[in-house]
Amino acid sequence: MKKLYINPLPVRLWHWFNAACFVLLILTGLQIRYVGQIDLFMSFRTAVQLHNWAGFAVGGGFLVWLGFYLFSDKITVYHTEPDRAKFFDAAFKQMRYYGWGIFLGEPNPHHVTPYHKFNPLQSMMYQIVMMLLLPLQFFTGLLLWDVKRFAGLVDALGGVRNVDTVHVLLFIFFTAFVFMHAYMGSLGPKASTHYKEMWNGYEEIEEPGDAPTRRAN
Ligand code: HEM
Repeated sequence: MKKLYINPLPVRLWHWFNAACFVLLILTGLQIRYVGQIDLFMSFRTAVQLHNWAGFAVGGGFLVWLGFYLFSDKITVYHTEPDRAKFFDAAFKQMRYYGWGIFLGEPNPHHVTPYHKFNPLQSMMYQIVMMLLLPLQFFTGLLLWDVKRFAGLVDALGGVRNVDTVHVLLFIFFTAFVFMHAYMGSLGPKASTHYKEMWNGYEEIEEPGDAPTRRAN
């Protein structure tokens, strides 16, 4: 086994702080959306306050994440392959691996390096989540946080109902994303591999001659 340092401290701190805030946002969001039907361990008022705080915390965390990548050379991990043919070829190989090869114990077609740690599906998905959906969720949440203050913008977008619909649809997406993402995170050579790498920064890579850790059934 060789160890590669792939997750710098700011990324790890951001990630687990962000994940905790998202869990809180989902729980409080459920209580706010289904008031009277889903009652968690807190009052409606507390749920709204916690939801607001966690939303701003995610916004702050996002700036840390963005700042880290903008001012470090590690931004390359998010770059997708510029050659379209090569990109789609690698993306299909990765899909085939997740849908088929992994069950046969085939090796992952993607090889992690500190400057190229994501496979094509991850770099595409994480870019969409981090650069489009998360900012949109924050923006719609901000408008709903103080509808009066942002009345002009809310009206320009067609009213509270439209803004709320986008916010709730994204809420549904993020809830599904957290479950899928947590499951996909367990698809390394061992179920704990990617969790450990997000915890201590190091990915353990099998070297030629190592006994395989994932076997065909
Ligand atoms: C309980 C919730 C979560 C768990 C268990 C979890 C788990 C993981 C694991 C194991 C990794 C490393 C493997 C990989 O890169 O795919 C990872 C990376 C990542 N996760 Fe999560 N995650 C959670 C929540 C979230 C949320 C809510 C978001 C975004 C809204 C998120 C966004 C990301 C991103 C962007 C990366 C790559 C970070 C980077 O290296 O720049 N995660 N997550």
